[in-house]
Amino acid sequence: MDNKTHTTLLFSLLFFITHLTNASSKDQCNQNDKKTLLKIKKSLNNPYHLASWDPKSDCCAWNSLECDDATVNRRVISLTIFSAQISGQIPPEVGDLPYLQKLVFRKITNLTGQIPHTITKLKYLRFLRLSWTNLTGPVPEFLSQLMDLDYLNLSFNYFSGSIPSSLSLLPKLSYVDLSRNRLTGTIPESFGSFPGKVPDLFLSHNQLSGSIPKSLGNLNFNRIDFSRNKFIGDASMLFGANKTTFSIDLSRNMFQFDLSRVEIPNTFGILDLNHNGITGSIPVQWAETPFQIFNVSYNRLCGRIPTGGKLQTFDSYAYFHNKCLCGAPLDSCK
Ligand SMILES: *[C@@H]1O[C@H](CO)[C@@H](O)[C@H](O)[C@H]1NC(C)=O
Ligand SMILES: *[C@@H]1O[C@H](CO)[C@@H](O)[C@H](O)[C@H]1NC(C)=O
Ligand SMILES: *[C@@H]1O[C@H](CO)[C@@H](O)[C@H](O)[C@H]1NC(C)=O
Ligand SMILES: *[C@@H]1O[C@H](CO)[C@@H](O)[C@H](O)[C@H]1NC(C)=O
Ligand SMILES: *[C@@H]1O[C@H](CO)[C@@H](O)[C@H](O)[C@H]1NC(C)=O
Repeated sequence: MDNKTHTTLLFSLLFFITHLTNASSKDQCNQNDKKTLLKIKKSLNNPYHLASWDPKSDCCAWNSLECDDATVNRRVISLTIFSAQISGQIPPEVGDLPYLQKLVFRKITNLTGQIPHTITKLKYLRFLRLSWTNLTGPVPEFLSQLMDLDYLNLSFNYFSGSIPSSLSLLPKLSYVDLSRNRLTGTIPESFGSFPGKVPDLFLSHNQLSGSIPKSLGNLNFNRIDFSRNKFIGDASMLFGANKTTFSIDLSRNMFQFDLSRVEIPNTFGILDLNHNGITGSIPVQWAETPFQIFNVSYNRLCGRIPTGGKLQTFDSYAYFHNKCLCGAPLDSCK
């Protein structure tokens, strides 16, 4: 055996032993993950919230983390930082936790800056909640690279700019919550078709404008909240007797359409249309709908409130400030 072969053999053996030791010491989290986590801690200025992140201990036992017990190397699959006194930005190093499925920064008012591009490295990311923080910048186009994303919640921040149309490329998206930001522009035309299921869409408390793309009428939404924006025009395409929609909140916009011919399925529970310019009358069939929440106040509706069902269980404040609605709980029709 020459010297070179000898060295190679020795190295192979060493590699094998190191590997074996790593795999057998079950309570050791992956060393790469550990290094990354310590960088994340440093980048967040060693906050008290992460005091348990002690390099001497097993990182799978640290707070705010979850490792996958099923895999040999116990990779970190979840990082959830909630209600913490942390000042700083989202560390770009989060992109170096390659098995991460869930990433949460929530209720951290001094978390500032933008969503780092490195997040696109998280190929297994399913759940992303950056909410109640002080993040700024756009809702990045690059989120559409997270092909496993099921839950996206960026609510209660200072995100600005428009909604990236590429979000509609995500095949597993079930929830999109962008409410309580400073988003402008229209709902992308592309939101009229999603490759997988139709996500619940929460866009309330922004400065979105324009009319709702007609294409959204093709979708069977379960829950929609477009309230407190500056939308105009027709929204009747969102409804439909053949859908299985549960809730629609369009309140405090400038929608204008005729309610008289709007059909809704008996799966409906929540309908809030207050503060718009909606005309026509409440369809007689709506008396059969099992509403839990119902509000058509501050519109331009007319005619008799249908009787015989749930509609009289709501007080007059659900109906007041219309053009000429009448009948219980309002005054009787003349
Ligand atoms: C946020 O930052 C400000 C200014 O740096 C500081 O006064 C405040 O205590 C911080 N709040 C929290 C909750 O960390
Ligand atoms: C959050 O950002 C807003 C707007 O940029 C700013 O007015 C506010 O002071 C910030 N709050 C904290 C806690 O940094
Ligand atoms: C998004 O997060 C906010 C606050 O953290 C919460 O109130 C809201 O219900 C969440 N949205 C969804 C769709 O889960
Ligand atoms: C709803 O479905 C029924 C039966 O499948 C069909 O006859 C009707 O045309 C549909 N209505 C609408 C508005 O699509
Ligand atoms: C309906 O909305 C109006 C306007 O926001 C509000 O004043 C009223 O309390 C609401 N009524 C019900 C029953 O939800």
